[in-house]
Amino acid sequence: MELTGIESRVVLVTGAAQGIGAAVAEILAGAGAHVAAVDRNAEGLATVVAKLEAEGGVARGYPVDVCDSEAVDALVGRIEDEQGPIGILVNAAGVLHTGRVVELSDRQWNETFSVNAGGVFNVSRAVARRMIPRRFGAIVTVASNAAGVPRTEMAAYAASKAASAQFTRCLGLELSDHGIRCNIVSPGSTDTPMLRSMLGEDADAGQVIEGTPAAYRVGIPLRKLAQPRDVAEAVAYLVSDQAGHVTMHDLYVDGGAALHV
Ligand SMILES: NC(=O)c1ccc[n+]([C@@H]2O[C@H](COP(=O)([O-])OP(=O)(O)OC[C@H]3O[C@@H](n4cnc5c(N)ncnc54)[C@H](O)[C@@H]3O)[C@@H](O)[C@H]2O)c1
Repeated sequence: MELTGIESRVVLVTGAAQGIGAAVAEILAGAGAHVAAVDRNAEGLATVVAKLEAEGGVARGYPVDVCDSEAVDALVGRIEDEQGPIGILVNAAGVLHTGRVVELSDRQWNETFSVNAGGVFNVSRAVARRMIPRRFGAIVTVASNAAGVPRTEMAAYAASKAASAQFTRCLGLELSDHGIRCNIVSPGSTDTPMLRSMLGEDADAGQVIEGTPAAYRVGIPLRKLAQPRDVAEAVAYLVSDQAGHVTMHDLYVDGGAALHV
C-alpha cells in the first residue's frame, strides 16, 4: 500500500540525530516529505541530513534542546519561515535513566521528565498553536511499551512515557475539533544506541528475546528485536492519509512483548 499525504509536507522530527528518530526522518524523506530534523546533537544531525540529501531527500537540521520551551517556540517559527507550514510532527527525542527507585537521583528523575514529557509538551504546544488556524495536521509521539507494563529499574522512564502517552491522547481530544490527529507509537526493545547503552558493551540480545523471569520480563514472542525502521513504518502509517480516521490510538510495535494487556 502506498502511503499518501506525506509528499511535500513539512515534517518536524525530534530526536532525529540517531536511532528511531533518524529512521523516521529517512522514511518520511523517502516518501517526499521536507524534513526539519531536530535534536540537541548537532553533529549527529549534520550526518543524518547529509545522508538524506545524498539519497535525494529534502532535509535541514535544527539543533535545539527540546526542554527549552522558548528556544523550541522560536525554532518552530524559524522552521515555518524557512520550510513552510509544519503539517506533521513526530516526537521521538527521549532519554533513558535506569535504576531501582531507591537509587535514582533527583537529577535522573528530573531529566527524564524534562525530556520525555516536558519536551513532548514544548514541541507539541508550539506546533499545535500553528496547526489549529490551518485546521490541518498529524502528530505522533513515540512513547514505549514500558508506559503500559511495569518494569524493574525503569520507573522514571516508564512513568515519563505514560505521561507523554496520556498527554498525547488529551491533545488529540482537544485538537480533534480542528481536524488534527494525535497518535502514539509504543516500541519495545529496538536496536538503537539507547538500547545498546542499556544492555552494555557485551550486549546479549538473546537474553532480551528470551526474557528474564527474575525481573518479570517475558521476552519477545516474535523472537527478534525491532529495527528502527519497524517503528518508523508504524509512524509513517499514522501520519499518512491512510490513517485519516485514526486518532488517540496507541500502536504497540514490540513483537508482542506487552502480551497485549
Ligand atoms: N530503543 C528502544 O528500545 C526504545 C524502546 C521504547 C521506546 N523508545 C523511545 O524511542 C525514542 C527514540 O529512541 P532511540 O532508541 O532512537 O534513542 P537514542 O538515544 O538512540 O536517540 C534519541 C535521540 O534523542 C535526542 N535527544 C535526547 N534528549 C534530547 C533533548 N533534550 N533535546 C533534543 N534531542 C534530544 C538524542 O540526542 C538522540 O539523538 C525515545 O523517545 C525512546 O524513549 C526506544
